[in-house]
Amino acid sequence: MAAVETSEVSVTDGVRRRDFINIAAVSFAGVGGAALLYPLVNQMNPSADVLALAQIDVDISAIQPGQAIKTIWRKQPIFIRNLTPAEIEAANAVDIGSLRDPQTLAERTREGHTNWLITLGVCTHLGCVPLGAAEGENKGEYGGYFCPCHGSHYDTAARVRKGPAPTNLEVPEYEFTTDTTVRIG
Ligand code: FES
Repeated sequence: MAAVETSEVSVTDGVRRRDFINIAAVSFAGVGGAALLYPLVNQMNPSADVLALAQIDVDISAIQPGQAIKTIWRKQPIFIRNLTPAEIEAANAVDIGSLRDPQTLAERTREGHTNWLITLGVCTHLGCVPLGAAEGENKGEYGGYFCPCHGSHYDTAARVRKGPAPTNLEVPEYEFTTDTTVRIG
């Protein structure tokens, strides 16, 4: 009986010793890992000029109804469009259930600013820049944007209506900082 107890104690002690050695080794690796990681993480922090590019403020006061501008944010084209009442009406008249990527104009704009349609100018098929933001460009069959690469048509809410694009033009993160300034990013 006593021999069994001794044996159990011995096994338990053995496990404890091994555990201690393992924990000590892991702790050492953890401290070493953290020390190595810090310069790496610090080096990966964005510099001030990169942070500045993360957000851009755009003055939209000169964009008349029916006009759009292109700007660049994080190296990607952005379309900012001031929709006319007729374009808003056309977007709202669409049966949402018939859309490939169902979204209302209200869901794609900001409350109180539904005339401002702000999207990436990047076709969701293979990434070409659609036409329609500049004066005189082909706006496609639905009056929004047209991608000449493979023929995707977007409507006045920049929702895909025809062609191979799988989804609507993406709406970036943005907010109105004043009635005439938007901060994108
Ligand atoms: Fe626009 Fe193919 S990239 S339709």
